[in-house]
This record gives sequence, C-alpha cells and structure tokens, in this order.
Amino acid sequence: MTMTRRKTLAVIGGGVVFAASASAGTFLATRTPQAAHAPWADAGGYDDDRLFALSYALLAPNPHNRQPWLVELSGKDSFRLHRDQTRDLPHTDPHHRQIFVGLGCFLELLKVAATLRQKTTAINLFPEGFDGPIADVTITEGARPDTLAPFILDRRSCKEPFEDRPVPSENSEALSAYGAVITADAAVKRLRKLTLDAWLTEMHTHRALKESVDLMRFGKSEINANPDGIDLGGPFLETLMLAGVLTRDSQLDPESTGFQEGVKIYREMLSATPAYIALTTNGNSRHDQVAAGRRWLRLNLETTRLGLALHPVSQALQEYEEMAPHYAEAHRILAKPGETVQMLGRLGFGPHPSRTPRWPLETRIMNG
Ligand SMILES: Cc1cc2nc3c(=O)[nH]c(=O)nc-3n(C[C@H](O)[C@H](O)[C@H](O)COP(=O)(O)O)c2cc1C
Repeated sequence: MTMTRRKTLAVIGGGVVFAASASAGTFLATRTPQAAHAPWADAGGYDDDRLFALSYALLAPNPHNRQPWLVELSGKDSFRLHRDQTRDLPHTDPHHRQIFVGLGCFLELLKVAATLRQKTTAINLFPEGFDGPIADVTITEGARPDTLAPFILDRRSCKEPFEDRPVPSENSEALSAYGAVITADAAVKRLRKLTLDAWLTEMHTHRALKESVDLMRFGKSEINANPDGIDLGGPFLETLMLAGVLTRDSQLDPESTGFQEGVKIYREMLSATPAYIALTTNGNSRHDQVAAGRRWLRLNLETTRLGLALHPVSQALQEYEEMAPHYAEAHRILAKPGETVQMLGRLGFGPHPSRTPRWPLETRIMNG
C-alpha cells in the first residue's frame, strides 16, 4: 500500500507527534531521493540513437515499478530486448501477464522517443512463448516526431483522489480510441466497489500483500539503493518512519494503525473516481499483452496531453485463487465473452505527482 502525503497526515492526525525542531526541518528538507530520480533528468542525453531512445523508454509505466527490461546491444543500430525474470511478480502476476503489458509500454515509449530524432523503430517480437528474448529492435532514419512525444516526461500514474468533476464528453470520445471509457453513474459505482473489494482481497491475502511489502523502499537511502518497487519517501513519510508508525511490519499487519489508515485513505481515493477506462483484447497471447501495453502507454501520454490523470487499478485483473470472483466480475462488466481485460484505470482530473524512481540506463544494458 503506497502511503502518500494525505495518508501521512491522517496517521499523524491519529496521534503521532513529530518534534519540528530546526534540525528535523533541515533533515526533512533533504529527503528527495535525487539519485533515484536522475534517469528522468538524464533522458535524451546520449549520442547513440539507441541509448537516446532507451533512456526515455525506461521511464515507462510498469507493474510495481519492477522495470523488467534488459538490453543487449548489437551492431550499430540494433538491440535485443530481454525480460529480466528476477523481476517477476509470482504471487500477484503468476502468468507474467502484467509484466508483458509493462514491456509493451516500454517498446511503445521507445518508438515514440526515437521520433524526437526523426528515427523510425522496427520492432520484431519473438514468436509466442517468449521464454527467451522479447524483441529484436532496429532504429533507423525516417520518422516524423510523434505528436505524443512532448508528453513523455510529464506522464504519471496518478495514485491520488481525483477532483469532483466529470471527464468532458469530448475527452471521453477522444479516449475511446484506446479503450472503453465508463462514465455512467451506475457503472462507475459498480467499478468503485469492485476495485475496492479486489484491493481489500489483496490486502488480506498474506502472500500477495507480502509481495508488495517486500518491494517497499522505506526512505531516501533505501530508494536510492533500490530505485524500483514501491517508493515510500519524502518528508512526511520519513516523519512517520522516524516515529516508528510506518514500518515493514506495520504494513504487513492488518491490525496496525498504519495499515488501517491506509485502508481508509485508499477507500476515499477510489470513491473519488469520476470515470474508468478499460483496455481489452480478443485473445490473451503474449503478443496481445504487449499490444495492450503499447496502447496503454499511448493512452497515458494522451491523458497527459489532455490534462487528465490516469491510474491503473489492476487487483481485479490478477490471476490467483482468492481473486477469482473479482476477476470474473471484472470480465462480466468490462469484456465480451472470450475477451481479456488487460488494463483497468481510474480516469479524471488529479494532481501532478512527483516522478518515480528508475534504475539508470547503464544498469539495464547487458553488454554496455
Ligand atoms: C501492467 C501494469 C499494472 C499496474 N497496476 C497498478 C496497480 O494496480 N496500482 C497502481 O497503483 N499502479 C499500477 N501500475 C502503475 C505502476 O505502479 C507505475 O507505472 C510505476 O510505479 C511507475 O510509476 P509511473 O507510471 O508514475 O512512472 C501498473 C502499471 C502497469 C504497466
């Protein structure tokens, strides 16, 4: 469960007092994990066209910010994309469906970024199965800048409550090119309940919850040391850590104050959702999953362009036993028989969250 500034305030409101001494103020003011955010500033700073595009591609959205990409450079203008299997999510994503959606986001962002230098990207996916490499990619001359390219650095997954105003109909119509936009009151209410019930199921399924808690990075030094997973940083969260309220143990304990406040605030966040968008595919092959990721990435850039916020809420789409009733309900609501819902997102007007950590490009290249 990601604790945000609001969560922190709520927990502080629950009784924790932090002495705001001058030294504490100085300490808290320096809590930004700058090293973990450096890849955002470094994006585009490479002469080699492949590295140029890859330095943006690694900013792609991906499940639990696992960043499951590994690159093997070949020749002058090509590389092979591999999946880093140490970054799988065996409990919440046992068939690696979401990981492949994230790899699709990476490939589409690569392609969009390459157009900033008028380069075209040929992506050859490997045949079904993908036990080995994911794709061979070649970058050559000859593309016009993608209209979505200017929005790469502002794109976010917005895990916050949205404003109490509807998504304008002209925006819903434009976004229908990417997925089914749900704005009708009754359907939105049903999805709010589904996404909450599914999230609570994850919170109370110990092995699924533990998978997330194990990926939490508590505070600046943990985030900088492992710039991936669920980053719990910034002055407010570090205040709670200092006070001993926000700990790995409390996040695993449904009886703890920190856990219960998190549930309350997540519930409020989900209820502050004016619309949803769902992406489905006819089949559910690896190619379908990658294609869905590519579509999601373009959607996320388009929402950025329109000033809208987008937040994936994937729990009901996860494939493990305890989640099965919610998975079935999600498919009843959002898919035709035989279709697979690949992504479900909250849609609305929201704040602009800060950047999330990334491993530097150099660490993702196998033979750099
Ligand atoms: C396939 C997929 C599933 C995701 N599921 C969730 C989710 O259930 N809840 C959530 O808060 N974020 C979800 N995300 C968003 C990631 O957490 C986010 O992309 C990552 O932390 C990096 O943050 P950024 O997108 O703001 O750069 C998902 C992203 C992808 C690609």
